[in-house]
Amino acid sequence: MYRNTLLASILLIALIFSTTFTTAAPVPHLNTLEKRAKTYRGTATWFLPKEEGGEYGACGPKENNYSMIVAMNAKQYGNMNKKSKWCGKKIKVKGPHGSAIVKVNDACPGCSYGDLDLTPKVFKKVVGNMNKGVGKITWHAV
Ligand SMILES: *[C@@H]1O[C@H](CO)[C@@H](O)[C@H](O)[C@H]1NC(C)=O
Repeated sequence: MYRNTLLASILLIALIFSTTFTTAAPVPHLNTLEKRAKTYRGTATWFLPKEEGGEYGACGPKENNYSMIVAMNAKQYGNMNKKSKWCGKKIKVKGPHGSAIVKVNDACPGCSYGDLDLTPKVFKKVVGNMNKGVGKITWHAV
């Protein structure tokens, strides 16, 4: 019984080590890719999905105050009556308060190139207090 437990522990440790070493190599490569992804700059604003524009994003899926999604400016979104190539794409948004990885789920007709309209949840995380209304952001695809 004890011997079996000891053997199991050794195997587990060996497994952890082998996993660590096999996954160690690709990490710098991923970092390089992340650096290469184009970074966009713009202004973040917030919107209330249900009250403004409806519960369904331009991309299709439902969204609410707490969704980790953004509405993309119309210029980059493309045809507002269609699903954009950005739909469902994950992006990392950085602002004065923090950063968040979110999905593109909607379009923002009044936003300029580079701008994103955020749900209250994402805005608080990235920009801070909602009373600020706007904040400078940078973002890139992940
Ligand atoms: C979303 O948040 C706003 C502001 O806090 C609030 O007034 C509104 O009732 C919320 N909407 C939903 C559907 O929870």
